[in-house]
Amino acid sequence: MKRILLFTLMAMLITGCKTDKSADNGQEQNTAIYTILTRVSVRHFTGEKISDEQVQTLLRCAMAAPSAVNKQPWAFVVVKDEALLQRIGETFPNSCCGRGESCAFVLCGDLQKAFEPVPDFWVNDVSAATENLLLAAHAMGLGAVWTGLHPNMERVKQAQELFQMPEHIVPLCIVPVGVPAEQPEVKDKWNESLIHYNVW
Ligand SMILES: Cc1cc2nc3c(=O)[nH]c(=O)nc-3n(C[C@H](O)[C@H](O)[C@H](O)COP(=O)(O)O)c2cc1C
Repeated sequence: MKRILLFTLMAMLITGCKTDKSADNGQEQNTAIYTILTRVSVRHFTGEKISDEQVQTLLRCAMAAPSAVNKQPWAFVVVKDEALLQRIGETFPNSCCGRGESCAFVLCGDLQKAFEPVPDFWVNDVSAATENLLLAAHAMGLGAVWTGLHPNMERVKQAQELFQMPEHIVPLCIVPVGVPAEQPEVKDKWNESLIHYNVW
């Protein structure tokens, strides 16, 4: 009887924690933590298309990010057009676009929605949305990479022109997404010397 109770309790705990049963190490059993610790930048893609549902899930995850005073001062351009993807790659060689990605997301700040006393918070907010999108892509078996525009104002201007954005929309970064054609090794970034307790 005791044994049955123990098994039931264990099963409940495992299900409640949304565990990935294929992982064996304690820390890696939680799928969210596993996703965070195994995400890597992917810069080459197979050319295979991802579905509209997948695109929507990625956007939903981006919009679930925290933001200062919950202003959600973000906006997104989803680029699927092949010619435009190539053009992004030519205009911004750092963007890794034109390498078989299915689409690219341009994550932007909307200055009209920013928190007025500290408008620059939009950068933090859209960064949080970007990380959410990267993690969601990885969790879905897709590859992605954050490629920077802002605060390089020359790139920001070029992107505003390329995507025909109004002035109050400031592109932060471009994230190409697709089916990975490479599996970069996960970097172990743990560094205990960076941690200070209570005071520096
Ligand atoms: C703000 C920011 C800008 C970045 N810009 C670029 C970029 O322009 N091109 C690129 O290939 N990767 C870019 N990256 C990705 C980083 O190179 C990458 O995250 C870093 O090398 C760590 O590797 P990992 O993502 O695989 O952990 C950028 C990342 C951040 C956070």
